[in-house]
Amino acid sequence: MKTIYVLNGPNLNLLGMRDPATYGTQTLADIESNCQKVADRLGLELVFRQSNHEGELVDWIHEAGVEVAEANSVGVVLNAGAYTHTSVALADAISGAFVPTIEVHISNVHAREAFRGHSYLSPVAAGVIVGLGSYGYELGMQALAHLAEE
Ligand code: DQA
Repeated sequence: MKTIYVLNGPNLNLLGMRDPATYGTQTLADIESNCQKVADRLGLELVFRQSNHEGELVDWIHEAGVEVAEANSVGVVLNAGAYTHTSVALADAISGAFVPTIEVHISNVHAREAFRGHSYLSPVAAGVIVGLGSYGYELGMQALAHLAEE
């Protein structure tokens, strides 16, 4: 069974109590259990992780890249949180490791502060989903499964 990575960046461990008007009331554990249902439906093995450390996210993208190269993974759904707007390292990891990546944001980053409107990741992402709440994770997983079948 192929894996699907769902990677979460800084502060997403605080979901549920963090600014619910912007991010909703679901916790990261709620999102993980929904992603597990989606993975089961898609026949994929879910690898769901969160880190507050940029380098750890880089390492996990490399790990996914090796699995994709060996045809053992369909790629990464990535909510990089604030690193989206700052991280050349994450962008280089995605392009360097040739990982199909769907960038997801719970909130509509374009309707918020101007600095959230720029993403270092979008140019190297296979697709971008913003503003649909935690449902964006599900859509991202479906998109990766679809791309892997093409
Ligand atoms: C976020 C949007 C980012 O701007 C922010 O820094 C986050 C969460 C989102 O899911 O809407 O941490 O990625």
